[in-house]
Amino acid sequence: MSYDLVVIGSGPGGYVCAIRAAQLGLATAVVEKRKTHGGTCLNVGCIPSKALLHASEMFEETKGHLGEMGIGLSAPKLDLKKMMAFKDEGVEGNVKGVEFLLKKNKIDVFPGAARIAAAGQVEVTGDDGSNQVVAAKNIVIATGSDVTRLPGVEIDEKVVVSSTGALELEKVPKKLLVIGAGVIGLELGSVWRRLGSEVLVVEFLDRVLPGMDMEVGRQFQRILGKQGIEFKLSSKVTKVEQTKGATKVTIEPAGAGDGQAEVVDADVVLVAIGRVPYTDGLGLEQIGVQRDAKGRILTDAHFATNVTGIYAIGDVIAGPMLAHKAEDEGVAVAEILAGKAGHVNYEVIPNVVYTYPEVASIGRTEEELKEAGVAYNVGKFPFTANGRAKVNRTTDGFVKVLADKETDRVLGVHILGPDAGNLIMECAVAMEFGASSEDIARTCHPHPTLTEAVKEAALAVEKRAIHM
Ligand code: FAD
Ligand code: NAI
Repeated sequence: MSYDLVVIGSGPGGYVCAIRAAQLGLATAVVEKRKTHGGTCLNVGCIPSKALLHASEMFEETKGHLGEMGIGLSAPKLDLKKMMAFKDEGVEGNVKGVEFLLKKNKIDVFPGAARIAAAGQVEVTGDDGSNQVVAAKNIVIATGSDVTRLPGVEIDEKVVVSSTGALELEKVPKKLLVIGAGVIGLELGSVWRRLGSEVLVVEFLDRVLPGMDMEVGRQFQRILGKQGIEFKLSSKVTKVEQTKGATKVTIEPAGAGDGQAEVVDADVVLVAIGRVPYTDGLGLEQIGVQRDAKGRILTDAHFATNVTGIYAIGDVIAGPMLAHKAEDEGVAVAEILAGKAGHVNYEVIPNVVYTYPEVASIGRTEEELKEAGVAYNVGKFPFTANGRAKVNRTTDGFVKVLADKETDRVLGVHILGPDAGNLIMECAVAMEFGASSEDIARTCHPHPTLTEAVKEAALAVEKRAIHM
């Protein structure tokens, strides 16, 4: 067995890379050790979490806002088992879709764990212990990431859970304590709050969603607070003790000498303090593939490692740990291997938090621009002034456009609001084309839509918003 390309891992990075390589005529194989394709994203990440976010949002709708529209309902009843089945069926449909696409593109699949025996040789160990060596002109490592552990806090996926366990709880915890106010903590915290949990989020830093625009983060935290999520910022969990009946969680101020420790009860503790690159069992030390201090595989601009013929993409290398970033890198490396000019523009990668309201961001934040000493103008427009948001009563949040003071080129857009994840895309396209805020402002936007808030924010850069 000899291939032009063997891809290790069939997550969004790996399977997309394999498909693009096959499209370009490379003899391609994939090695995957999970039972199903699609990696973290389809099996225990993006897809199941979005299914539960959607279902729990619908559940909350029936409890509140429908009445205001004259839709009378008796109190909704939660059937958690059925909701989990809804999620699982969604996952199944998606992973089967990937299986179909791999077949359709005539990509060979080797089930099992891969180890790189040497450049050009991938050893695959099946579940039954069987062993085979597959030869490859090129190898792409797309093995993804794993949960960051908190020292001294053991994850059993029942009481102390990672995102994986939090997507499979058998009953709604009365009290859910979330460690980490990042994207997993706030998405899954939202799911369980909507289904009835009291949620307390403990965050080391003095803000939620670090890395996102500060103003967005502050307003987002206020909104989540109004929805009932409680926050303990500048705090850290130092002990989780499972006693008979309750789990005791010790919380201390993040800085030494900043106050008293306290102990709170929780039924379930979700550890969501980030993810680390996953390279276990690949044999990287033996073949000398270099990694950085965070364990990420080091690559050049063409995704090549220091060992000839070995490449890496997705969560296992530097950059945001996002499915679409992994996919785009998969396409780029396949194109490079086929002699084309593959490329990823890291300045224009959207980032979306799928809560209600959603948070979406692209490009630089105000904090980053200040730090880089870049002079910029700000245009802001609130959803309270958008006709469609007003009539739908979904007025929380705003759009903020940051544009270069001299050239007016759009440098960043940050949206907190309904459907922000879709709204950000016109800004992504605009930024790919090097647009100015005036370009967005002069583009005709359909009325009445939420997209008009983006146009108005672009107009506001030159202080000429119409509806404000
Ligand atoms: P992965 O998807 O992790 O795939 C790696 C694959 O490699 C796995 O299937 C693994 O089994 C396999 N593998 C590992 N080692 C070996 C080996 N030695 N041999 C064979 N196979 C191996 N991102 C978004 O963009 N949007 C979201 O909404 C979103 N939601 C998320 C929600 C949660 C709860 C989590 C945990 C993550 C979420 N992410 C989201 C992040 C997203 O899942 C990752 O960025 C994405 O999956 C990375 O893709 P990848 O291909 O690099 O790796
Ligand atoms: P994260 O990096 O988004 O957030 C982790 C949070 O934990 C940070 O706020 C950090 O300050 C805090 N923290 C770290 N150590 C702590 C400690 N000891 N005590 C208290 N707080 C602590 O990581 P998260 O939420 O685990 O998600 C991992 C990655 O998965 C994300 O970075 C993202 O790339 C991806 N993801 C993307 C989603 C999306 O695109 N919608 C959804 C879910 C995950």
